[in-house]
Amino acid sequence: MKLKTIIITCLLATSGGYIQVSATAAADHGVDPALELIHTFGCKGCHSIQGDGSSTAPDLTNIGSRMTVNQIKGQLTAPVESRSGGFMPSYKTLSEHELDLISQYLYNLR
Ligand code: HEC
Repeated sequence: MKLKTIIITCLLATSGGYIQVSATAAADHGVDPALELIHTFGCKGCHSIQGDGSSTAPDLTNIGSRMTVNQIKGQLTAPVESRSGGFMPSYKTLSEHELDLISQYLYNLR
């Protein structure tokens, strides 16, 4: 029982943090909300998108020609470890809406 309480507390603490970050990201600055999420969650710390970002991981500019929206979304919630070497973080704590926004945005860049 105690362990269960600890796990639930951790989950709440984690999701609380994300909700806060998401709320900030969703604030309207006239920037595409998907792009704000991409900045907030640090995708460009590893990936390049349209010439901006790092080359540690594959360039995502043309990801839509290699993956479907659902495959992109799948990579976010359950990164394929054999390909990522296990170092792409999982974004499964994001809301469905946020995941859809990011996946569709990337898919439509192609
Ligand atoms: C800590 C580094 C890191 C961060 C941060 C990161 N990724 Fe990744 N990502 C990777 C690596 C490494 C791969 C796997 C590359 C491979 O071996 O094909 C990958 C793969 C992907 C792929 C599949 C690419 C392909 O060509 O198969 C997508 C889509 C993707 N990441 C999207 C994102 C998005 C969106 C974010 C931000 C929400 C993000 N990543 C954040 C490291 C990262």
